[in-house]
Amino acid sequence: MTEDTGGHITYVLGAATALVRSRHVDQIEIVTRLIDDPALGAAYAVPFETVAPGLHIRRIDTGNRQYLAKEAAIADRPAFQAALLRYIAGLKRKPDLIHAHFADAGAIALDIRERLGIPFIYTAHSLAIDKALANDDGIDMSARVAEENRIIGAADAIIASSRDEAERQLMLYPAACAARIHCIPPGAALDGWDQGNVAGAKGLVAPFLRDPAKPMILAIARPVAKKNLAGLIDLYAGDAQLRARANLVIVAGLRDGPHSGEPEQRQVIGALLERLDRHDLYGSLALPKRHGQADVSGLYTLARQTRGVFVNPALTEPYGLTLTEAALHGLPVVATCHGGAADIVGTLDHGQVADPRDPAGFAAAINRLLKDRKTWAKASQNGRRNSAALSWDAYAEQFVTVARTILPAASVGAPAKPTRLLLCDIDNTVTGSRPGARELAQYLAAEPALAFGVATGRSLQEAVRLLREWHLPDPAVLITSVGSEIYWRDGGHLVADTAFAERIAQGWQPAEIAARVRGICGAEPQAPVEQRRYKQSWFVDERSIVAAIREAVADLPVRVIYSHGRLLDILPERAGKGAAMVWAARRMGIARDQVFAAGDSGNDIDMLAACRNPILVANHSEDLHALRDSSAVYVAHRSHAGGIVEGMYAYARRTAA
Ligand code: GLC
Ligand code: MG
Repeated sequence: MTEDTGGHITYVLGAATALVRSRHVDQIEIVTRLIDDPALGAAYAVPFETVAPGLHIRRIDTGNRQYLAKEAAIADRPAFQAALLRYIAGLKRKPDLIHAHFADAGAIALDIRERLGIPFIYTAHSLAIDKALANDDGIDMSARVAEENRIIGAADAIIASSRDEAERQLMLYPAACAARIHCIPPGAALDGWDQGNVAGAKGLVAPFLRDPAKPMILAIARPVAKKNLAGLIDLYAGDAQLRARANLVIVAGLRDGPHSGEPEQRQVIGALLERLDRHDLYGSLALPKRHGQADVSGLYTLARQTRGVFVNPALTEPYGLTLTEAALHGLPVVATCHGGAADIVGTLDHGQVADPRDPAGFAAAINRLLKDRKTWAKASQNGRRNSAALSWDAYAEQFVTVARTILPAASVGAPAKPTRLLLCDIDNTVTGSRPGARELAQYLAAEPALAFGVATGRSLQEAVRLLREWHLPDPAVLITSVGSEIYWRDGGHLVADTAFAERIAQGWQPAEIAARVRGICGAEPQAPVEQRRYKQSWFVDERSIVAAIREAVADLPVRVIYSHGRLLDILPERAGKGAAMVWAARRMGIARDQVFAAGDSGNDIDMLAACRNPILVANHSEDLHALRDSSAVYVAHRSHAGGIVEGMYAYARRTAA
């Protein structure tokens, strides 16, 4: 279900096309408003359209068939909601699940669930929270944020596109619950994105540019203030090198003239035209008025052919689909460091992030890419190669796994109550070897009385994602963020252990800790998504700095944990993988000598030390040498998950002997 007819329709179609190919999915209907407007064409007025076998678009007639922009569309929402409800209520076979895109659709799906009991998954696409907190343009976003909060609190599951969205943006909403949030990066629309219409693209920019062969700095974004397009012109105009070296091309939606469109669009377009004149950028700045879909693809290609750069200078960018599109075309990028863009650039490795609030720095990043041919070529190549891996089929596979957690299970036989618990670290302990992971999964399937749990430094969302990626079974318990959070499986759902959280919260003073560590040279904070409620994480390369940090917080009730000679976590005194292990076993009613733990690095030490049946995989890091030599730990000959299975058999033999 979607309320959008614009850019994100690629997401909905891409996802649906792949999902309907899955053997777990029968039928998909994309539901949207019916629009009968000559400017849009007859396609939007077709009530029922088949896109592919099993995939249809149903256009709901609200009684108002006009194309409606923002405000008017909101006014038409109740009519849409009522018509959709009537339609679904009349169906013999009701949908098992609704996937709502954007807040409007989310609110409607929530209403339908209340009336008809159909669960829903929410994909927000563009959360308002960052914009609301920044309050740059003085627009009151509180109603929108409140509505999003209501949907986030109620959705059966939430699918986010990036870690930033999953772990930072969504978690800023008071109603958010990490256990229901999943990060599944969207695929990239590979078909139809070949070269595009390069001649058309040349035609679009030709009237504006004196020397069209110069490298093209390309920006494509809706004409809204937060995209900071006027700021882009200012930073381009203010940098003599950039001006001499490259042209700037900004594609900001479609317009008939400076006075067409909604007030915000008019304001933005006005600002762009005003700067063209003020900075005298005639001949080097192109602001095409209209373009078609094939032109967009053509523009990316053209920009690559000129050895140019794609830029996204937004003040905040919830996701940044255009960065993936640029990658597909082999076009390097410089993107805003605020929001989800950093994630994409980190994964695709096709450029740089920079801070648009520091115009000179942002311009310098563009200059570097334009100047350094080697870096440019590498980024171009990386983008092409790495974006090919973002397939919609991979998305669909993960989506199905998430959907299954919220649908009534097909087989209900109550599982036996476990009498033993195996807790495994994730990175390089259960992951690292595919055959090993398969072996562990088989071993666990054959041991119904053994509960499987994980204890990781990663966040819950990352832990769940990795387990899915490695085809490991759903754990009964997840100890995450270095033992500062615990989640329990309850049927298909995960539930946060609030009693554990309350216990460790005592005496936790995050601001005080941050203030003390920030002053220490050589301690770099890890990314914002790594900072959790009860975990502060830093990069520290030198032992002497670790000692200085320990010293600085010595009088506070905290623990400092150092792993891999680089990662440093500060946790409440009563947290940590070891403490969480003891807590979890007690809650499960499992005796201490029936708990097994496996790990490979620094943040596993307290867990392995507190465990009566510890297993060290062969690939363990230096952090664990002391433990290996001193205690009764089982040191496996095999690396990764294979080593865990080996350890379990070794302990079984000891008991039998
Ligand atoms: C994980 C976390 C990181 C932490 C590290 C070591 O990688 O993401 O924040 O520092 O584990 O515990
Ligand atoms: Mg590890």
